[in-house]
Parts: sequence; C-alpha cells; structure tokens
Amino acid sequence: MESDEEAGYSVSKIAIVLCIGLSLAPQGANLMAGSWHTAGSLRCGDCHIQHGSENNQPLPGGPFVYLLRKTTINELCLSCHDGTDATAPDIVDPVQMYQATATGESSAGYFAMPGINNPNGHTLDLMVATPLQTGASTQVLTCASCHAVHGNGNYRNLLEDPMNNGGSIGLSLGTNVFEAASPPDPPTVSGAVAAYERSNVAYVSNYSGWCVSCHDLLAANNQSTLPAHFSGHPSDVSLNAFSPAPHTDPTPWRLGDGQGFVGPNDPDGISRVPFLNPQGVDIATARTATEYSQVFCLSCHKAHGSSHQKSVLWPLFEGGPAFIAGCQQCHNK
Ligand code: HEC
Ligand code: HEC
Ligand code: HEC
Ligand code: HEC
Ligand code: HEC
Ligand code: HEC
Repeated sequence: MESDEEAGYSVSKIAIVLCIGLSLAPQGANLMAGSWHTAGSLRCGDCHIQHGSENNQPLPGGPFVYLLRKTTINELCLSCHDGTDATAPDIVDPVQMYQATATGESSAGYFAMPGINNPNGHTLDLMVATPLQTGASTQVLTCASCHAVHGNGNYRNLLEDPMNNGGSIGLSLGTNVFEAASPPDPPTVSGAVAAYERSNVAYVSNYSGWCVSCHDLLAANNQSTLPAHFSGHPSDVSLNAFSPAPHTDPTPWRLGDGQGFVGPNDPDGISRVPFLNPQGVDIATARTATEYSQVFCLSCHKAHGSSHQKSVLWPLFEGGPAFIAGCQQCHNK
C-alpha cells in the first residue's frame, strides 16, 4: 500500500479496486485474528513516513524515532483515534459516534487526554503506580502497553504478555471473544460504529487473566469463611456457583427485567452489563445470559475508562438513582 500512496491518487484508486476484487477471501480469514492494523490491513504509511517529507512538504518537527509520523506513540495513535478520522474508533473523551446505538458507548470506553491524571480510568503519558499489583510498579501507559502496534492474533491486537513476564494470553475472536459485525475493510464510518459498539461484542473466557497480568493481586478469588464466599469481589465465578444458596439472583439476571435493567421494573436501569458465557460457541450463544453467566472485570469496569470514577460502568461513587444499577442486575436487592 505504501508504494500506491507514493505513486499518486489515480494509481492507488486502481490498486484499491484490484485489492477489493482479488482479496475478499483472505480478508475474511484475517478477520479471525486482530481485525485491523494486522496482516493484510497493516498499512505502514498509516504510522511511518519514509523520508520525513510528503507532497513536497517536510514533516513538521520530524523526522521522529523509527520514522514514525509523530513524536510519541500516544500522539501517533490518537492522531486518528481522537475523532479526527471518522472511520477510526474514537477513544478520547468526549466521544459522539455511538450516540444512536443501544448502549451509547464502545466496548472499551474512553481515556482522558494524555498527560492528565484520569480518575475515571487508565491514565496515559504520566508515570503512575500500578494498583492491585504485588510490586506496585510504576509505568507510563501508552497504547503499546496493551496493544501490539503491528497486530497479532488476539482480539483488538491485545498483547499476549502485557507485563513481559513470560505469559502468553490468547484472546482469539471465535474462541474467547465473539463479535456480530466485524470491522469493515476498507473502514467506513457506519461500519466502525457497528463493530466497536459495546453490544456487538460477547465474551467467553480468558479475559480476566489478561487484566490480571498487570493487576496480579486479583489473580486468586480468595475464598472466605462461610457464610461469606470470598474475601474480595470474585471474577470468573458463575451466578449459580453456590446454588442452592447463592449470593446472587439468577432468575432476574436471566430474564433481564429486574431491578437495575432498562425496562418497566426500573426507570433508572442500565444496559445489561457484560459477562462471560463459558458455554458460548458463537455470537448468539455467547450473548445469552443464563444462570451459568460469570461476572468478570468488564462487568464493572471499562477497559480504557468511563465517565465514572474507577472506570465503573455506572455512577457507583457519584450517586444518583442509578448508583447501584449494575450490582442490582446480579444481586436483586
Ligand atoms: C491513519 C489512521 C490511524 C492511525 C495512525 C492508527 N489507527 Fe488504529 N485504526 C484506524 C482505523 C480506521 C481503524 C478501524 C478499522 C475498521 O473499522 O475496519 C482502526 C482500528 C484500530 C483498532 C481495532 C482493531 C481491531 O482488530 O478491531 C485498534 C486496537 C487500533 N486501531 C489501535 C491503534 C494503535 C495502537 C495505533 C498507534 C500505534 C493506531 N491504532 C494508529 C486508523 C488508525
Ligand atoms: C498502527 C501504526 C503502525 C503501523 C501501521 C506500522 N507500524 Fe511500525 N511501528 C509502529 C510503532 C508505534 C513503532 C515503535 C514501537 C516502539 O517504540 O516500541 C514501530 C516500529 C517499527 C519498526 C522498528 C522497531 C521494530 O519492531 O523493528 C519497524 C522496522 C517497523 N515499525 C516497520 C513497519 C512496517 C514495515 C510496517 C508495515 C508493514 C509498519 N511498521 C506498520 C507503528 C506502526
Ligand atoms: C490498559 C490497557 C490499554 C491501553 C493503555 C490502551 N488500550 Fe485500547 N483497548 C484495550 C482493551 C482491553 C480493549 C478491548 C476492549 C473490549 O472490547 O473488550 C481495547 C480496545 C481498543 C479499541 C477498539 C475500540 C473501542 O473503543 O472499543 C481501539 C481503537 C483501541 N483500543 C485503541 C487504543 C489506543 C489508540 C490506545 C492509546 C491511546 C489504547 N487503545 C490504549 C486496552 C488498552
Ligand atoms: C499494562 C498494564 C495494565 C493492564 C494490562 C491493565 N491495567 Fe489497569 N491499570 C494499570 C495502571 C498502570 C493503572 C494506574 C492508572 C492510573 O493511575 O490512572 C491502572 C489502573 C486501573 C484501574 C483504576 C482506574 C482509576 O481510575 O483509578 C482500574 C479499575 C483498572 N486499572 C482496571 C483494569 C482492567 C479491567 C483491565 C483489563 C481490561 C486492566 N486494568 C488492564 C495497568 C494496567
Ligand atoms: C455480572 C454479575 C455481578 C455483578 C454486576 C456484581 N456481582 Fe457481586 N457477585 C456475583 C457473583 C457471581 C458472586 C459470587 C457468587 C456468590 O457469592 O454466591 C458475587 C458475590 C458478591 C458478594 C458476596 C461475596 C461473598 O463473599 O459471599 C457481594 C457482597 C457482592 N457480590 C456485591 C456486589 C456489589 C456491591 C456489586 C456492585 C458494585 C456487585 N456485587 C456486582 C455477580 C455479580
Ligand atoms: C463487582 C464489580 C467489580 C468487579 C467484577 C471487578 N471490580 Fe475492580 N473495582 C470495583 C470497584 C467498585 C472498585 C473501586 C474500589 C473502591 O474504591 O472501593 C474497583 C477498583 C479496582 C482497581 C483500582 C484499585 C485502586 O487501588 O485504586 C483496579 C486496578 C481494579 N478494580 C481492577 C479490576 C480487575 C483487573 C478486575 C477483574 C479481575 C476487577 N477489577 C473486577 C468493582 C469491580
């Protein structure tokens, strides 16, 4: 694709037509790995510039390390992912693109601007201590702390070993995660909205283990003395794990019409929170809520951030009528 760009508009148009004609099948296959910035969709020129000059104009401030188009990774990625490029999912607050969808947000949620301490999720570009980690190591989070910049086999190109401690966490589309609509190739505005909207995605397994590679103190769901089941809120445990005396309410959860859910029973309800369905084998089964549904990190937190403290999906700390909506969906109180 790079040489197409350099050769000019008319040639690249022909090349695009040819690409579409020739490569429908391989693209379909690609979509089982990470779906963009990977294999056939890794377009070097999106992020690198060869001679620090384009259309006879030198790159302002450049050249930059590794011939990148911008001086830092966050600046580079956000040059498209901050809403500037309408076909690229916007991941910096404020995000407008999902307004007309069922949940009104993407599956990952959004960051504050880099360099600003973010009380509502992960902070970018500042040295921060890692909470709930044995070593409480300090790090500067960039996109490359969590995503493989050249793509890999995981859902959303998520790194297999974010803490570099020798792990290898598989989060494959079609096994651990399912999506109804795939990101379109070539990207489109409406296609991006459909592909990255929260309810497009359903989860089966391995996800908490990925978060726990940095937050390792949550690796074990430490059991406690009865009648308490655990010494902290568990993850990867199903609603009916302690049947017939669970601390959950599987029936309203399954039906989706009790306290906490959007609907006649609760004017302040919210969309069903994400969950793992360990029995999911396709998007339809993965999406189906049952008494075997498992609570996991994304049932309560957005991966990037939210508009609520601690990246929680609902206003747990801010208060208001929906302050326990998410808890209510599983614990009808
Ligand atoms: C030139 C614009 C551009 C730049 C620069 C860019 N992206 Fe993207 N990115 C896109 C577009 C467009 C999509 C959506 C593709 C689609 O919908 O088919 C995308 C999709 C993604 C996805 C979702 C992939 C998937 O498998 O669903 C991730 C993750 C991502 N980008 C991360 C990054 C990171 C990290 C960087 C910086 C290293 C970056 N992007 C730089 C345009 C860009
Ligand atoms: C989505 C953005 C993005 C795209 C597309 C991309 N790169 Fe990169 N590339 C990066 C970033 C960011 C770094 C710096 C990584 C770091 O600092 O750890 C990098 C580093 C590199 C490096 C030096 C480090 C290394 O891994 O050897 C090479 C070489 C490279 N890229 C080649 C390519 C080629 C060839 C392509 C096209 C097939 C490509 N890149 C496409 C973002 C991208
Ligand atoms: C702390 C880890 C982490 C960091 C840092 C991070 N991401 Fe993500 N990102 C994720 C996870 C996890 C997902 C998948 C969420 C889901 O759908 O389950 C994701 C999803 C995405 C998506 C899909 C769109 C969406 O809103 O769901 C894009 C695009 C993306 N990331 C780009 C970026 C870019 C660009 C950066 C840097 C500015 C970045 N990410 C930094 C963890 C991270
Ligand atoms: C690469 C390491 C890394 C990964 C992977 C990671 N985190 Fe974090 N997390 C951090 C760091 C560093 C902070 C501290 C950020 C700050 O102070 O804003 C943090 C903070 C948090 C916070 C507190 C946010 C706040 O506003 O105080 C939550 C909640 C969180 N992470 C949840 C998650 C979840 C859920 C996942 C998996 C989707 C995840 N993390 C994956 C490194 C990571
Ligand atoms: C997606 C479902 C889900 C959500 C959302 C959820 N929980 Fe839970 N919760 C569970 C499961 C599953 C268990 C473990 C099963 C059991 O203890 O019987 C559990 C256990 C508990 C327990 C008992 C722990 C013990 O040691 O016995 C408490 C207390 C609790 N949750 C409180 C909360 C609060 C407060 C919230 C909201 C901030 C919340 N839960 C959100 C599913 C959920
Ligand atoms: C039932 C809801 C729920 C689940 C499930 C859950 N969390 Fe949390 N988490 C919270 C709440 C609420 C807080 C805020 C704690 C507080 O300040 O009382 C929090 C706080 C955090 C923090 C910040 C701690 C600090 O010291 O600032 C991190 C990091 C975190 N969670 C990561 C995770 C990860 C990783 C998972 C999955 C393994 C997970 N959480 C599962 C509700 C949950």
